[in-house]
Amino acid sequence: MRVKLSVNGSVYEREVEEHFTLLRFLREELGFTGAKEGCGAGECGACTVFLDGKTVNSCMVLAVEADGSEVETIEGQALNGSLSDIQAAFDRHHAVQCGYCTGGMVLSVKELLKRIPKPTVPQIKEGIEGNFCRCTGYQQIIEAVLDVSGQAESAGKGELKHA
Ligand code: FES
Ligand code: FES
Repeated sequence: MRVKLSVNGSVYEREVEEHFTLLRFLREELGFTGAKEGCGAGECGACTVFLDGKTVNSCMVLAVEADGSEVETIEGQALNGSLSDIQAAFDRHHAVQCGYCTGGMVLSVKELLKRIPKPTVPQIKEGIEGNFCRCTGYQQIIEAVLDVSGQAESAGKGELKHA
């Protein structure tokens, strides 16, 4: 089947097999390898992308279902060679270890901050609950989210421990 969609503002059109997931389409057909395959079953969030403005696990969406949609991937976050504010906060707080979860995590944080500009620690935890970090760097990730949402003073003052 023929699929036409936009990724990070550019339009792509390809012939694709019906069983291809959006994740495979992005990675294997279009070369957007920032979305990772972890579980392949909608559990880990490594494959998170925006689909028409909402985050989805792209391993659980067929490419043909995304026909006509607007997709945003981690590759679309850094503009003109500069990290996005969220990416820069992850960098400042050493919130990246192996990096496998990071792309999906950053997009879930972006979605969270669109809904809740100044999330509490429990709200941050809820916002990233679908994204697993096998390196267990959650504290640094939460600190990065507090920082980028203008709540840097909350990090390291006990809120993380007691939330
Ligand atoms: S690879 Fe898609 S949720 Fe794990
Ligand atoms: S940084 Fe390694 S899985 Fe999260």
